Amino acid sequence: MVIDFHAHILPGIDDGAKDLETSIEMLDKMKKQGVDLVVATPHFYADRMTVDGFLKNREKAYEAVESRRRDGWPKVMKGAEVAFFPGISKAGRVRELAIEAESAEPSAKGGSEAAGSGDESPPGRGAALLLEMPFRDWDRSVEQETISLTRGGLFVILAHIERFMRPANEAAIERLLARPNIAAQANANSLADRRLARKLVPLFADGKARFIGSDCHGVRHRPPNLPDGRKALLSALGAEFLARLDEDNERFLEELCRKKQA
Ligand SMILES: [Fe+2]
Repeated sequence: MVIDFHAHILPGIDDGAKDLETSIEMLDKMKKQGVDLVVATPHFYADRMTVDGFLKNREKAYEAVESRRRDGWPKVMKGAEVAFFPGISKAGRVRELAIEAESAEPSAKGGSEAAGSGDESPPGRGAALLLEMPFRDWDRSVEQETISLTRGGLFVILAHIERFMRPANEAAIERLLARPNIAAQANANSLADRRLARKLVPLFADGKARFIGSDCHGVRHRPPNLPDGRKALLSALGAEFLARLDEDNERFLEELCRKKQA
């Protein structure tokens, strides 16, 4: 199954698809490209929005897209691209932003608090969070908080890891990706870039990067382009590798859903 793990296809919710017509064009394009499933990952910024507000907007945008569903479109799963913030590992409600994680009980405080309020609701089981790491150099607390997020069963996917692969972060990236509940996602256009591919392909070969995303934002600017990344992996690591990656990705999402229902 061909899966796009990172896409801003939902309309009017972030700097991605600006309206429903754009979303429709993007999904038409994905269909032509042979994408079977796309995880919709609008940006979540804890300092600018609440979890409740975000989930409400995402649901509205998702429903709008589904109301116009066309034959052959990829299945759309709901997720978020959550920007790291200090205290994230203690913000219980962040788990509600994990891929297809079911909402926990509605907040007793009426839902007005931000994700970082320290709400200690139990962590969701079997959920995966697409995490956008800080763009400044990572210190120990960034690394520790990322590890703490995985306690309680949360799987952490480091979004477009290539943007952070610089000498200051090298050791931390190595330590984080050595952990069983953390893996990297790479953007298709980066895999298609020879210079970046030299760093990314070994991560895929070692199983430390396991997910590809288009990180698409529109039709003309940053369009859906998953095949560009897949082609690059195909030529670097072969057809068998790519088929295994697809199977692994499918199993990964199945597992998340199963655990959620358990
Ligand atoms: Fe993104």
